[in-house]
Amino acid sequence: MQKAHVKLHMGGAVAAVEAYREAPTPNVVVIESTLDRQALLEHLDGLSEYCDSGTKVVIIGRLNDIALYRDLMARGVSEYLIAPFGVVDFVRAISELYSTPGAEPLGRLISFYGAKGGVGASTIAHNVGWSISREFDIATIVADMDLGFGTAGLDFNQDPPQGIADAIYAPERLDSNLVDRLLSKCTEKLSILAAPATLDRMYDFDEAIFDSLLDVLRASVPVVILDIPHIWSAWSRRLLVSSDEVVIVAAPDLGNFRNAKNIFDALRAARPNDSKPKLAMNFVGVPKRPEIPVSDFSDQLELPASAILNFDPKLFGTAANNGQMLGEVEAGNKMVEVIDELARAVMGRVEIKKSKRTLLNPILDKFMRKKAS
Ligand SMILES: Nc1ncnc2c1ncn2[C@@H]1O[C@H](COP(=O)(O)OP(=O)(O)O)[C@@H](O)[C@H]1O
Ligand SMILES: [Mg+2]
Repeated sequence: MQKAHVKLHMGGAVAAVEAYREAPTPNVVVIESTLDRQALLEHLDGLSEYCDSGTKVVIIGRLNDIALYRDLMARGVSEYLIAPFGVVDFVRAISELYSTPGAEPLGRLISFYGAKGGVGASTIAHNVGWSISREFDIATIVADMDLGFGTAGLDFNQDPPQGIADAIYAPERLDSNLVDRLLSKCTEKLSILAAPATLDRMYDFDEAIFDSLLDVLRASVPVVILDIPHIWSAWSRRLLVSSDEVVIVAAPDLGNFRNAKNIFDALRAARPNDSKPKLAMNFVGVPKRPEIPVSDFSDQLELPASAILNFDPKLFGTAANNGQMLGEVEAGNKMVEVIDELARAVMGRVEIKKSKRTLLNPILDKFMRKKAS
């Protein structure tokens, strides 16, 4: 329970429904109730309307009643504890929610990947991580997977002596204590696992090199952001395929479109049952540059844009040079709002409306026809 953040509210099931009507639900909600069976079930049905998927519910009651137990389990309740019980029993029940074989890991893995290099994938990854940690007030780690050239350290104005390299070059020592020491704390809720950004080693890893590190990270915090460099390799593909959410960052031109489509198709084939990748369009509106309209780009991909970010060299340049997030440079900027919205989308909090356009874009149309023939 060392890493758990606990909030206590009085009022039982009734208060829980009130509290979570508006606010997102945490990983675990524990409800202690003295209500009778019927009333408890009614309140739970009320609560289920507001419970985010992934939230586990544990009930503490006083009735040793098998019918109640069955009703609770049928409603997806994870555990029913009969009071009184000891502290250790409680801790064991909570940790078993996550440690039994086949249990879903605690942490959500969200990857950011550019359709080309330099399209702003890292910038967006870092800003979304910052936004999630603030808006949802949950512990978040940004892991910089661009070992040679990563900029997470620079972007968060941190100069950590060690980071991700120390985790993978010492697999026998890799555990949550080691990872804790390798993290650099940026804010109360946000830490980064920085890249060495040196070229004294080669980074052509085996496919499974990051597996144990990811296991440790996902067991430590609810959200892990992966900033993946624009490389197509066994390990980068594996990171993308094993993520809960993938955000493809693209600029509105033909090369980006071709690559975004290929990435999208490759991921759909490799993870047919997972959520579709999300699309973030960046560098929109570079003066004098002809561009493919975002709506055409996203229609042709059949993927609505979850974020559309304008080319804004002053805002982005200032942030990069000062080692600040966009929201720290100019909190009221529209781009900060777009980042916050993307943060909500990758956390599964909003539905993106699909555009209704069906007009064909001449450039994309020609490209798709050539591809088909
Ligand atoms: N919308 C934007 N407007 C202007 N500059 C941007 C924008 N998005 C990113 N940049 C800048 O582009 C450069 C490359 O961004 P980066 O996030 O490192 O790209 P990637 O990770 O895709 O290679 C950085 O200097 C960043 O500040
Ligand atoms: Mg990058």
